[in-house]
Amino acid sequence: MPRKSASPRNIAVFTSGGDAPGMNAAIRAVVRTAIYYGHRIFGIYRGYEGMIDGEISELFSTSVSNIIHRGGTILKTARSARFMTEAGMAKAYEQLRRYDIDYVIALGGDGTFRGALDFSKRYRIPFVGVPCTIDNDLYGTDYTIGFDTAINTAMQAIDKIRDTAAAHDRLFFVEVMGRDAGFIAMRSGIATGAEAILIPEDKLSIKQLIELLRRGWQRQKTSCIVVVAEGDEEGGAFEVAEKVKKQFRQYETRVTVIGHLQRGGSPTCNDRVLASRLGVAAVEAALAGKKNVMVGMRHTRIVYTPFRKAVKHHQTVNPDMLRLANILSI
Ligand code: F6P
Repeated sequence: MPRKSASPRNIAVFTSGGDAPGMNAAIRAVVRTAIYYGHRIFGIYRGYEGMIDGEISELFSTSVSNIIHRGGTILKTARSARFMTEAGMAKAYEQLRRYDIDYVIALGGDGTFRGALDFSKRYRIPFVGVPCTIDNDLYGTDYTIGFDTAINTAMQAIDKIRDTAAAHDRLFFVEVMGRDAGFIAMRSGIATGAEAILIPEDKLSIKQLIELLRRGWQRQKTSCIVVVAEGDEEGGAFEVAEKVKKQFRQYETRVTVIGHLQRGGSPTCNDRVLASRLGVAAVEAALAGKKNVMVGMRHTRIVYTPFRKAVKHHQTVNPDMLRLANILSI
């Protein structure tokens, strides 16, 4: 563990990409850990955009009081096209130099780490990444900050849809987020007893889906839930519903897209604890001299993955979860 420092450093923290519940808990952990070890900590607002524009100010212990339970991010976030240009990165470097920043802690997903990797090839200010995304698609950690809250939000929404589906004997197609990964669909589908789960990692065709629904109909299932990951090859929930309706009309159908509800709300206990652990680990990694790595949690242990590896690979859905979903959906 690093000691309290005799030569204080200036550390900066920012959030970037899609917000994720637990980002605030991670900011709090980063800020307080840096102060604990005797360093100054600066917040960069609006992600890489604010880095380019110099929206930077010092944070104190009280700056992060009463935020551990709040969704969103007090530092705001953005997706930045400017940072992908040489001119944007040069401007960001100038701003970091202006505040004598020695280290940057980046809270975000693979787009954020890709930006950090590009920057590290040109400039000598190192980054440490903290995985924050509801999608859980990052290599180098079992779970990303925000995923647990998102799946619980999706689960609660689907439970409510189940009530009305059962009351009206309807077939519902429910679309959940996840970009091109099926983690949210898989977890929320299993947790709500969905009759079918469509994810990009599995090639369930419309024909197979109809066969599955038909078998349920023959077994007297009066209502059904199909969870569709937004990135599924057959399309989103509206598209899948249209394709199914062309050949299978036994149920009256409805479509619900849960959307950005999944990104907000108070983080779950798991997300708050994960964010606290990874926030502390990120600062300690920086103080130990680790550069351009993402901190993650594997089997309850802190691990470090170089950005170049983290952005090259994707976490994969456990095939056993798919098997389990198939067995339980009969
Ligand atoms: O990466 C998080 C995420 O919520 C994805 O699940 C989704 O595809 C995307 O962001 C939506 O992005 P935006 O908020 O920019 O529409």
